[in-house]
Amino acid sequence: MQRATDCQAVEEAACEEPSDSENCTSTAESNSDSPVILKILQNWTPTVSHYFDKEHYTYAGQHIVIQESIEHYGAVVWPGALALSQYLESNQERFNLKDKKVLEIGAGTGLVSIVASILGAYVTATDLPEVLENLSFNISRNTHTNTHKPEVRKLVWGEGLNEDFPLSTHHYDFILASDVVYHHTALDALLATMVYFCQPGTVLLWANKFRFSTDYEFLEQLSNVFDTSILAEFPESNVKLLKATVREN
Ligand SMILES: C[S@@+](CC[C@H](N)C(=O)[O-])C[C@H]1O[C@@H](n2cnc3c(N)ncnc32)[C@H](O)[C@@H]1O
Repeated sequence: MQRATDCQAVEEAACEEPSDSENCTSTAESNSDSPVILKILQNWTPTVSHYFDKEHYTYAGQHIVIQESIEHYGAVVWPGALALSQYLESNQERFNLKDKKVLEIGAGTGLVSIVASILGAYVTATDLPEVLENLSFNISRNTHTNTHKPEVRKLVWGEGLNEDFPLSTHHYDFILASDVVYHHTALDALLATMVYFCQPGTVLLWANKFRFSTDYEFLEQLSNVFDTSILAEFPESNVKLLKATVREN
């Protein structure tokens, strides 16, 4: 995996999109009253991302550009996403995603879902409504040549799962989650969501930075419900990557 932090000027970023290069020129030439930059941004950037930057990655041989925003914590790439992406890329024989059904919860910028899609999975990337625009933007921008086009859907932990994701038609081989455990009040709903989607045969891969006692408490709760094992540790970022499956007895 390669990562290059690329703090480009907004003008460069806006005009970098090939389909917008004409747009940039004509907009800049035809408007003189107000700042050109703002007019360019209005033409293409998701509304969620008023302040943005782009991060560049290469996973499984494919260049990925992730648009981030300071507007929402779900619109930046967290260390768990880097760890899980790296792990999926490096462990394709152990966890072969080709043609597998994959659900990502709390997908944020979509990096992990994009990597899973590059590796050949049928991906459903989910998050809160306010994150979906930036998530969709990143997913569509980075997966148009992939075999299976990913789907982006709203999924609020613990809400409407039976209605929106009935188990009769929604069985996933893998549930992916990165840095979904941090200081928030939805941990019970998160665990309930993991329990709901983890059916016999499903593998939950969860990568998280461990900082607070609540992180360890969640791990304990998870281990009370599932068979769990630590697959990898990333000491430089305090990230642990765990596998959880339905308890067999
Ligand atoms: C710390 S961010 C991690 C984002 C991404 N997985 C990553 O690692 O870069 C936590 C993510 O969980 C999502 N989230 C938080 N509470 C949620 C809830 N109740 N239901 C669904 N998603 C939620 C946030 O919108 C955000 O995208």
